[in-house]
Formats: sequence, structure tokens, C-alpha cells
Amino acid sequence: MSLDPDKLPPRPELFDFHGVSMTHYFTDNWENVQKFQARPDDILIATYPKAGTTWVSYILDLLYFGQTENQTSVPIYDRVPFLEILAPALRSGKDMVDSLTTSPRLIKTHFPVQFVPKSFWEQNCRIVYVARNAKDNMVSYFHFDRMNKVEPEPGDWSNYFQRFLDGKMVFGSWYDHVNGWWKKKQTYSKLHYMLFEDMVEDTGREIDKLCSFLGLNRSDEEKKRVTGGVQFDNMKKDSMANYSTNPVMDFKVSPFMRKGKVGDWKNHFTVAQNEKFDEDYKKKMTDATLYFRDII
Ligand code: PPS
Repeated sequence: MSLDPDKLPPRPELFDFHGVSMTHYFTDNWENVQKFQARPDDILIATYPKAGTTWVSYILDLLYFGQTENQTSVPIYDRVPFLEILAPALRSGKDMVDSLTTSPRLIKTHFPVQFVPKSFWEQNCRIVYVARNAKDNMVSYFHFDRMNKVEPEPGDWSNYFQRFLDGKMVFGSWYDHVNGWWKKKQTYSKLHYMLFEDMVEDTGREIDKLCSFLGLNRSDEEKKRVTGGVQFDNMKKDSMANYSTNPVMDFKVSPFMRKGKVGDWKNHFTVAQNEKFDEDYKKKMTDATLYFRDII
């Protein structure tokens, strides 16, 4: 990335965009992104921010392309471009996808389901969606917004907590995002819906499920290699996976690969916040078929 960290514009403001809170970095290229031409073998990795995007991107990259020189020389955010991003002095995410020479192309998005360019549906592309329980997702997002200078100012934790409940986050409400994609899964068969907590519990099992969804025949040995390679400690020290090459992130504030755990929310939520959260959660999460374990 050729972006000078000392010359960054002020942090962006949130605004309402078709009913979703967004910043201009993800709407400035809207028309072009909506016209994006997907190919039938494209794979879209869709997530609410901080749900495990990089982890799944890395897994798919290894499953498809194995250990190549790319892994040691090209950052994951270039190997799996972020479709909707348009930041100053950088190529747009869409242009980066268009210039990928791989087959399939692995593409990242944080869009809520209704924002996905229509050609993905027309081409019947495979989509991997990853969701993470709301409490840990909120904590991870808070630390990310503290260290990422192209995110809105997070403010203090209690203010951030309320914003999350109100859906005033970049890419909107967590509740709408996970529910919207879950609903889509009921009618679109090429959508694989994964949970971060399942990946932490048994990464190998989730890789097996991914392979069968993607129609990939990989030997046990290869799958074992991938499972080992994508463990948190390995990715954390891998400069092509840990975002340390990204100039907009200040690792002195918080690292990108922070803890990678389930349940870190217990170190952040006060008892009162937890009660408030749970009450609100029950009202918003009425579909019992979408279940996040151990949070309420
Ligand atoms: S982003 O910016 O939206 O693309 O971020 P994303 O990659 O979705 O989420 C980052 C969080 O995922 C954790 N992570 C992992 N956890 C366990 N194992 C592995 N291999 C792994 N890779 C990434 C990362 O640490 C962030 O979570 P927190 O809780 O902040 O540590």
C-alpha cells in the first residue's frame, strides 16, 4: 500500500446510505461496484466486520492455491480484495478484483445482503458467510476502530456499546446483517453460513465442511497442513496475514490479530451493560434457528 500514514484525511463520519450506516470509503464507488461483473466461479466471502473474514480468506486461499510464493510476498488484502473499498491513493477494490488472474477469484465484502451486486446472484456464485457472536464482535470492532485511522472515532466504550445496539456502525446493524444473510440462505443454496465460534472449536471440521461446499477434493494431509497454517499464532506472526503492512492501522494502539478468542466480551461488558444487551438481543433475534452459543 502506498499510503502515507501522516497524510491521512480526518476520520470519516457515518451517514445513512439506503437505510444502512456507512462511511464514504465504502460508498464512493457504489455505481461501479453495483455494475461489477461476477464470474460463475467467483467466491464471495461475506461478513460483518470483525467476524473472521481474514481467517476464512486465508483458509480458502490455501485450499485453492496451496503454499505458493504469493503467500510469502502478497498481503492477504491484495490476494482477496475488498470489493467495495475506495480509499485515497489506492486502487479501488473493484479494480483489484478485475485484475486478479486467479481462478477462482476470492472476493471480500462486508455488504449487508441487499447491497451485493446483482451479478453474483445471476452467476449463481458460491458465497461463504461468516458470523460471530454479537458480544465478541462488538469488542473486536471497538479495538479495530481505535487503531484504524480510516474508521470513525470510536469514542469511549460505553458510547460504542450503545452505538452497536443502535446499529450505528460502519456496515450498519450487526443484527440486520446476520439475520439478512441467514434469511437469504433459506432461498439461495450456494450460500455456506459459518460461525466463528465453530471455527475456534474445531477448525479442521469446519475446513471439511468448506471443502464439501466448494466441491474440493483435498487429501487429509493437505487439510491438516491448512488447519495448522491458519491457527491464530501462525497467522499473527505472518506479516502477509496480520495486516502489519497496512499503513492506516496503528498497532501501537491495538494489533489486527488481537486475541482471536471466544468470550473476550466478559472482560469488557459491565453487569448493567450485559443485562441491557440481553434484553435488547431477545427482541431483535427472534429467529431461533440462528443460534449463537453461550452468550445469553
Ligand atoms: S476485518 O477487518 O473485518 O476483515 O476483520 P476480520 O478478519 O473479520 O476479524 C478479525 C478478528 O478475527 C480474529 N482472527 C482469528 N481468530 C482466531 N484464529 C485465527 N486464525 C484468526 N484470524 C483472525 C482476529 O484476531 C480478530 O478478532 P479479535 O477478537 O479482535 O482478536
